[in-house]
Amino acid sequence: MKVAMSLAEVRDLRHQLPDPFGLVPTMGFLHEGHLSLVRRAKSECGSVGVSIFVNPTQFGPEEDLEDYPRDVERDMLMLEDEKIDLLWTPMAEELYPPGYQTWVTVESLSQPLEGAHRLGHFRGVATIVTKLLTAVRPDRVYVGQKDAQQARVIRRLVQDLNLPVEVVNCAIVREPDGLAMSSRNAYLNPEERRAATVLHRALTAAAEAYAQGERGADALRLKMYEMLLGESMAKTQYVSVADPETLEEQWGPVERALLSLAVFVGKTRLIDNIVVGAG
Ligand code: PAJ
Repeated sequence: MKVAMSLAEVRDLRHQLPDPFGLVPTMGFLHEGHLSLVRRAKSECGSVGVSIFVNPTQFGPEEDLEDYPRDVERDMLMLEDEKIDLLWTPMAEELYPPGYQTWVTVESLSQPLEGAHRLGHFRGVATIVTKLLTAVRPDRVYVGQKDAQQARVIRRLVQDLNLPVEVVNCAIVREPDGLAMSSRNAYLNPEERRAATVLHRALTAAAEAYAQGERGADALRLKMYEMLLGESMAKTQYVSVADPETLEEQWGPVERALLSLAVFVGKTRLIDNIVVGAG
C-alpha cells in the first residue's frame, strides 16, 4: 500500500496503477461499512485507492468537526489488511488554499432531507467529491447507500459535470441488532447504543407495513413515528417517504420509495434509510 499526501504524489502514484482504478472516498475511523466498499472495489477493479479526509466544508458551524472521531494509524492497519494499492490523506491547506472560493452545488437534490437540516452540507460534499475525482480520475467511485441522499447527489454531479467515472452504490452494512454502522456510533454510551436500534426498528416497521400492502405515504411515516415515540431516548428530527430518484416528499400512494429518518440519541445525530418497492 502506497501512501500519498500531496496532490503531486497522489497523481504520480495513481498513474502507475493498473486500470480500472476504483476510489473509495471516506472520512476515516473505518468500520465494516467502509470495508464493504473497499472489498467490492477490490473485486471489480485492477487497483483500489481510499481517501481519508475529514472535509471541513461539509460540517456546519454547530456540528461535530472538532470531535469527529479520527484514528489514521488504525485505519492504515485495516487498509493494509485489505491490500489496497493507494491511501490518500489529502492536506487541507492544499485542497482549500487561502482565498478559496469555488463550489459545486447540486441544486434540488441538496434541498430536502439532510440538506434541510444541515445547511451547506451537500455543497461541501459535492465540492470535495468533485475535487477528489478530478485529482485522481478513478474509473469507478464506490459510495454507500447508508448516505442515500449523498449517493444521489454524487451520481447527479458526475452526470452533470460529465465526469468519466462510474458511481457504484453499495448496500448498508448493519450491526447484528440492525444499527447501521457509522463512525458516529462511537459517540454512543451503552444506554444510547441500545436505544439507537430504534432507527432500524422504525424503518422495518414501515417496510413491513409496505410488504403487507400499505401504500399511503402518510401511513408509512406514521408507522415510523409510532416506533420512534416508543423510545424515550430518541428525539426525531425528520421521517420521510420520498421518491428515490428526485428525493421529493411523497403524499399520495407510493410504489417505490426511500424511507429515511434522522434521530438524535442523546447528542448524537444518526441517520438511516431503506428503499421499498420493485427495481
Ligand atoms: P464517511 O461517512 O466516512 O463514509 C464514506 C463512505 O462509506 C460513504 O460512501 C458512506 O455512505 C459509506 N458508508 C458509511 N457507513 C456505511 C455502512 N454502514 N454501510 C455501507 N456504506 C457505508 O460519507 C462520507 O464519509 C463523506 O461525506 C465523503 C463522501 C467521504 C465526502 O467527504
